[in-house]
Amino acid sequence: MGDTIKLHDKKFKIMIPAAEIDRAVEAVAQRINRDYADKETPLFLGILNGSFMFMSDLIKKIEFQNELSFVKLASYEGTESSGHVRSLIGLNNSIEGRHVIIVEDIVDTGESIDHMIRDLETRKPASIEVCTLFFKPGSYRKERPIKYRAMEIGNEFIVGYGLDYDQLGRSLKDIYVVTE
Ligand code: IMP
Ligand code: MG
Repeated sequence: MGDTIKLHDKKFKIMIPAAEIDRAVEAVAQRINRDYADKETPLFLGILNGSFMFMSDLIKKIEFQNELSFVKLASYEGTESSGHVRSLIGLNNSIEGRHVIIVEDIVDTGESIDHMIRDLETRKPASIEVCTLFFKPGSYRKERPIKYRAMEIGNEFIVGYGLDYDQLGRSLKDIYVVTE
């Protein structure tokens, strides 16, 4: 892929190369390795579809025994958060007493993650933390601290490495930002 691409009606230019993403994933994985070293079999819970590539790279850097699962919670259309959050599907096993690490591609307003956490809390896990590849501090509207943030960005719209613009761009290994 070149330095600029077109997805649907918009143009995007390269913003974060794969090597830089890898360094950020490595750093956040090391923090998690330190924090969870003595916890019993933590559960990584990826939110589909956006987190699949981040999860795949993150989990290879995790040094403790773990379990991994994915759930779905779709809420996004186009380049603006719709604000409508649908319910959580795909969580079939009990998480009672488990240490859960939610793996998300990006936390923008925080609506999706907040909804997800509130649902999971009713299932009585031992702990819940969020590990997000990207955090947008300028648009986050919730009180809840997001503990693990691999990278922070402004309010720009990005694609690649799992993130999409109306389903396109997920397979890109670098991160691209919208230009027009
Ligand atoms: P929130 O509920 O506003 O925090 O939005 C979270 C969801 O919106 C993420 O899981 C993404 O699917 C999507 N999203 C937010 N910002 C972007 C972006 O810049 N690019 C692609 N998807 C985004
Ligand atoms: Mg998502």
